[in-house]
Amino acid sequence: MAPQGRLLIRGGRVVNDDFSLVADVLVEDGVVRALGQDLLPPGDAPQGLRILDATGKLVLPGGIDTHTHMQFPFMGSQSVDDFYQGTKAALAGGTTMIIDFAIPQKGSSLIEAFETWRSWADPKVCCDYSLHVAVTWWSDKVKEEMKTLAQDKGVNSFKMFMAYKGLYMLQDEQMYAAFSRCKEIGAIAQVHAENGDLIVEGAKKMLALGITGPEGHELCRPEAVEAEATLRAITIASVVNCPLYVVHVMSKSAAKVVADARREGKVVYGEPIAAGLGTDGTHHWSKEWHHAAHHVMGPPLRPDPSTPGFLMNLLAKRISAKTHHQAVNFNIFEGMVCHGVPLVTISRGRVVYEAGVFNVSAGDGKFIPRKPFAEYIYNRIKQRDQTCTPTPVQRAPYKGEVFTLKPRKMEEDDRAGTRVQGHS
Ligand SMILES: *[C@@H]1O[C@H](CO)[C@@H](O)[C@H](O)[C@H]1NC(C)=O
Repeated sequence: MAPQGRLLIRGGRVVNDDFSLVADVLVEDGVVRALGQDLLPPGDAPQGLRILDATGKLVLPGGIDTHTHMQFPFMGSQSVDDFYQGTKAALAGGTTMIIDFAIPQKGSSLIEAFETWRSWADPKVCCDYSLHVAVTWWSDKVKEEMKTLAQDKGVNSFKMFMAYKGLYMLQDEQMYAAFSRCKEIGAIAQVHAENGDLIVEGAKKMLALGITGPEGHELCRPEAVEAEATLRAITIASVVNCPLYVVHVMSKSAAKVVADARREGKVVYGEPIAAGLGTDGTHHWSKEWHHAAHHVMGPPLRPDPSTPGFLMNLLAKRISAKTHHQAVNFNIFEGMVCHGVPLVTISRGRVVYEAGVFNVSAGDGKFIPRKPFAEYIYNRIKQRDQTCTPTPVQRAPYKGEVFTLKPRKMEEDDRAGTRVQGHS
C-alpha cells in the first residue's frame, strides 16, 4: 500500500459511543493521533497534510458489518458479491470492516475452512475483515480446532445452525457441547435459530398443498419456528453460561424472546439485519415471481407489516437519549440511517471513497484477529459464574438402605410389554 501520509478532518461533529463534540481529527499512518479544537493554526497547510473540511457534518467511526457472506458456496449456488465487489460496496456505505463466515462442510476441518476463506479474501478485500467460523458437526477434532482457532487464529465467535437439517444442523446435545467449548476458550456462540425439523415437515406440507412459490418459504417456517429455536438456544446457553449472539432476528416473536432474556440479565445479543428493519414479508405474496423471490432469505421476512417498526424500536431501546450524554440532542441512529449518507469514507487512514469515487485496490484491507475472553462480554460471564453456581446443602450423610435399580432387566420387561400389546 502507498504511504498513508497525514490527514486532518476539520470542524466536524465527532461522534463516539459515549459523547460527541465539534473537533478536528488528525490521522497519521492510519492511526488517530489527535482530537481537539483548532489542531492546525491558520496559514498554509504543511506539505503532505491533506485537509478535509467537515464543517456541519458528522464524523463517525467506520461501521462494522458483523454478518456478510461474500462468494459463499451454498447448496450448489454462490453469493454474487465476491470479497472485492462486496467490500467496495461496504466502503461506499461507510462500513470499514466486515465479519464473514467460514463454513466447513459437515465432517471437514474448521481450520481448513478458515484458511480457505482467508485465501479467498486476502487478495480481494478493499476494507478490513475478520471471520466467524461455523461448527456444522461435532467431534473431538472439532473441539480441538475451535481452541486452535481461538488461541492462534484470531477467531472468537463460532456459529451453530439449528436449521438446514442434514447439511449444517446440530442437535441440542451437540449445541450444548459446542457452547460449552465456546465458554472454555472465551468465544461467543452464535446461532441461526430456526427449528430445522419443523421446517422439513413444513416444506412437505406446502408442497403437498401445491404451494411451490416464494410464499411457501415463509409458510413452511412461520414465526413460531424461529421463536421456539431462539428460546431453546438461549436456554442451552444459559445453562452453560456461555454468551450468545442470535444472528438475524427476523420476527416479533423471536425479538420478544431475546428482549425478555436480556431483561432477565442473560448475556444474549440479537442481531438486526437491514432487510428486517426496512421491509417485510408481504412481498412474498406478490404476483410477480421475481419480485417475490428476491425477498427470500432464511429466516424469512415476516408478513406482519408491523415487524420492521417493532424491531427498530427494540434497537432504539439500545441507542436512545438515555444512553447519550445529556447535552446531545440528536439520535445517532437517526442521523446515520434516516437523514445521512456517507460523503467520504476513510479506511486505514486513507480517503478510499469520496463523492462517489473509489480510490482503493483489491487486497488493501487486512485480516483483523479478535482476541478470546473479550472483556465487554466475559466480565459479565465471570460475574454470573461467581454468583449463579449452585452449592450442595450441608447435611448429615444418608445412612439408610440403598436399593440398586437394574436397567437391563427393565428394558427386557419393556420389550415383553410391547410384544403383549402387539398381539392384543
Ligand atoms: C489515491 O490514493 C493514493 C494513495 O493514498 C494517492 O497517492 C492518490 O493521490 C489518490 N488518488 C486520488 C485520485 O485521490
